[in-house]
Amino acid sequence: MSIIDGKMIAAQVKEQLRQEADSLKERGITPGLAVVLVGDDPASAIYVRNKEKACEELGLYAEKYTFPEDTSQEQLLELIDELNENPAIHGILVQLPLPEQIDEQAVIRAIHPEKDVDCFHPFNVGRVMIGNSTVKPCTPEGIIHLLEACGIEIDGKECVVVGRSNIVGKPMAMLLLHHNATVTICHSHTENLAEVCRRADILICAVGKAGLITEEMVKPGAVVVDVGMNRREDGKLCGDVDFQQVKEKASYITPVPGGVGPMTIVMLMKNTIEAAKAQLTQQEKKWIFSGNSGLSG
Ligand code: GUN
Repeated sequence: MSIIDGKMIAAQVKEQLRQEADSLKERGITPGLAVVLVGDDPASAIYVRNKEKACEELGLYAEKYTFPEDTSQEQLLELIDELNENPAIHGILVQLPLPEQIDEQAVIRAIHPEKDVDCFHPFNVGRVMIGNSTVKPCTPEGIIHLLEACGIEIDGKECVVVGRSNIVGKPMAMLLLHHNATVTICHSHTENLAEVCRRADILICAVGKAGLITEEMVKPGAVVVDVGMNRREDGKLCGDVDFQQVKEKASYITPVPGGVGPMTIVMLMKNTIEAAKAQLTQQEKKWIFSGNSGLSG
């Protein structure tokens, strides 16, 4: 059994991204990300801080906006309008969940699709479904990278995704399908969850329920990817998979923390760089990509 070291794989991708960001910066373009946090959810505050930190490490420009819990939808939409118009900002990320007085989908729709580095806008969701998107949703794309970095074949495999969220489950299934997997999505109404999970060559769990995936739900030799991020009573983080049990049965398994999480942030950085490249004017593109910039278009 191998434990997939998400931190190490993320560091390797980060290094490639740093080179790409440096190349752009030498030509006067600094990819910029605006991160918006509304309310005082402690987990969201940590995620947002980590995203800012990753920008600093790569030399990307970052702006952070913090709003109180009672912020109105109009206030938030006003900021998004400004950020849509701001040429220094190439990516806009509004941390979810939002307080209940704010319509999350309305906020997502307000972000210009070219600046939607989460890939949550319906336009980009549609492009992901078709398979021609420039950016891909961060967590699912990070998982594909992890599997590829470990040399794990996806083509033709039975993949079971547990969880049907818009952020992870649904786009994950779509990306696996584009890699020619046979994909099943399970959720809270699935009958015989254990039986379906046991079919999986690659089992991906994104529910948010500690201890959901036990040893008898895993086929011997399966690859197990744990997207869960749960806080135990003792304050420690754990995933959805009973790691101690399942690691004995799996061929590969991602730990929590240090598995999928670091890849999500790196993919956000990648999307910010891609967004900056996509937003260059025709003239800038001609100038940058015709030279020996080392960039790919
Ligand atoms: N909340 C949990 N995961 C995410 C994410 O990937 N992006 C945003 N914006 N909010 C989240």
